[in-house]
Amino acid sequence: MAVLPVLKFPHKALQTKAAQVPQVTDVERRFVKDMIDTMYAEGGVGLAANQVGVLKQIFVASPDQARGKEFVYFNPRIVRKEGEVKEFEGCLSVPELYEPVKRAKKVWIKAMTLSGEWMETAADGLLARIFQHEIDHLNGFLFIDRLGLLKSKSVRRRLSRRHAASSKK
Ligand code: NI
Repeated sequence: MAVLPVLKFPHKALQTKAAQVPQVTDVERRFVKDMIDTMYAEGGVGLAANQVGVLKQIFVASPDQARGKEFVYFNPRIVRKEGEVKEFEGCLSVPELYEPVKRAKKVWIKAMTLSGEWMETAADGLLARIFQHEIDHLNGFLFIDRLGLLKSKSVRRRLSRRHAASSKK
């Protein structure tokens, strides 16, 4: 078991698009185990690779935090969306901030699985929200970028000030 340190805003890796994974090897399989351990240790329902400083298109998710039942996807992309729903969202990389975020109610994603095969799957409810949040991470976006222009700017400013103050201590 290895729990990796989770990077916090404004770390550059969180604002960088992750690279495609050409194939799933032992390196990725080991890394995914660490990502899952890290997600549970931090009490999260999802984790993207760039949150632990690895710029690869990989995310893990577990809406019920049920060990052994994680969703693990490589190179995921949304192929279809339906509806809209606004709910509070948070992120391990943006501690102590919860804001309502508009997301599609239902999404269809295409991704490669741990076995290296491509598949398509649909999700709604919390799972759809997690998928959208994690795919955003892999494209270099945080949920605070989804708050509308003015709100995003003010939240970013506030977090940057907080970061500057804490790194001076
Ligand atoms: Ni997040």
